[in-house]
Amino acid sequence: MDDLISFLRIPSISALPEHAPDVRRAAEWLRHWLAQAGLENVRLIEGDGNPLVFAEWTKAPAKPTLLLYGHYDVQPPDPLEEWTSPPFDPQIRGGNLYARGAADDKSQLYILMEAVRRMLRERGRLPVNVKFLIEGEEESGGEHIERYVSSAPAELRSDAALICDTAMFAPGLPTITTGLRGIVYGEIHLQGARADLHSGDYGGAAPNAVEAAAQIIAALKDRDGRIRIPGLYDRVRRPGDTELEAWRSLPFDPEQYREKEIGSPALAGEPEVPLLERLWSRPTLEIHGIRGGFTGEGAKTVIPARAVVKISLRLVPDQRPEEVVRQLEAAIAQATPRGVTAKFHLLSSAPANLVDPQNPFVKKAAEAMEKVFGRKSVYVRCGGSIPIVGLFEKFPGIPSVLAGFGLPDDNIHAPNEKMSVENIRRGIDAIIAYFDALGA
Ligand code: BES
Ligand code: MN
Ligand code: MN
Repeated sequence: MDDLISFLRIPSISALPEHAPDVRRAAEWLRHWLAQAGLENVRLIEGDGNPLVFAEWTKAPAKPTLLLYGHYDVQPPDPLEEWTSPPFDPQIRGGNLYARGAADDKSQLYILMEAVRRMLRERGRLPVNVKFLIEGEEESGGEHIERYVSSAPAELRSDAALICDTAMFAPGLPTITTGLRGIVYGEIHLQGARADLHSGDYGGAAPNAVEAAAQIIAALKDRDGRIRIPGLYDRVRRPGDTELEAWRSLPFDPEQYREKEIGSPALAGEPEVPLLERLWSRPTLEIHGIRGGFTGEGAKTVIPARAVVKISLRLVPDQRPEEVVRQLEAAIAQATPRGVTAKFHLLSSAPANLVDPQNPFVKKAAEAMEKVFGRKSVYVRCGGSIPIVGLFEKFPGIPSVLAGFGLPDDNIHAPNEKMSVENIRRGIDAIIAYFDALGA
């Protein structure tokens, strides 16, 4: 706990340039910890962006090699006033550890680290070979790890990647994630007049960039949550009947979900599509923020010349990010009113990923978790994205095992992020059981 807490104290927020020194400090902290724990070839892999942390222990010949992936960067903590205890002053309350990064992903990464350290300390060796690859820009769409992995370095060669960066479907229910959505994230930059203008003098003649933003946003989705981008659904693949059947038997009550996790009077999205299908196997389009015009106190009569819209789409199999970008650009052009110029700037993208539940590395993970949690593992997908999973699959050809120990109400990316202390403890036991099973 002390070590994990000192890791959590570092505000390694990759999206905010002013935190660059903290991001580096988190990488250095990991390097030091991993070396102390007895790992070898511990080093920072420098490049364009935040350093990758590499470490390995490969003295189990003829045993499988696992690539242990995690990320040491975290999301910005705002709004600060909504945190019960400060985001970078970790505190334990009611069996939960509260801090930014508590669940996403520092404690979960720490589960992998501590499992390895404990085995090395108690036995002087590991039942399998391991290679840590830890990145510092997962939360901000950085490409350093993509360039590194795509170059297929020999030192990365492994049989499977093990990632603890997802959640269990319910408390006490061991969970394997078999699908991640992809993402296209970018900004729409709008320009009307050359500069802001008096709305009395020029109203009726000058185009309004904020109004154009609203018109474009409104045109991209209908009131039933269907995305109105021509061609967008063409490649969407429906999950197979077996998978859909498994989802129907999960312990899930949409009404309770609305009340407990969402807290809105009704749910959005395609009403005819069952909720878990909407969350896991349908594309989405979300607006994350709008910048433009006058937002101060009081009244200012101005016609804004510029506006920026932050927007993303979540992608599902078999959508292609480049194609979705082209479709989105065409839909934006179609919806842009006269006199306004709209440009889409792509910030990051990744395709959706599926994991084969029959893969022996996946099956053994499910069994190991069952031993520790005393319950049958469930297979789910998740709505979020872990961009590097696709590249592990594509370049060195490494399948990913997504075995996370977060909980659905951990508030990742939100105020009061938490991680169950019990899940950290059981997570470590489960990873050790998994390594033992693979090494047997
Ligand atoms: N750990 C999450 C992915 C995730 C989210 C898994 C929800 C399970 C449930 C990851 O850190 C994340 O937040 N990814 C970003 C990627 C994006 C910034 C490219 C995401 O999904 O928004
Ligand atoms: Mn994460
Ligand atoms: Mn995240």
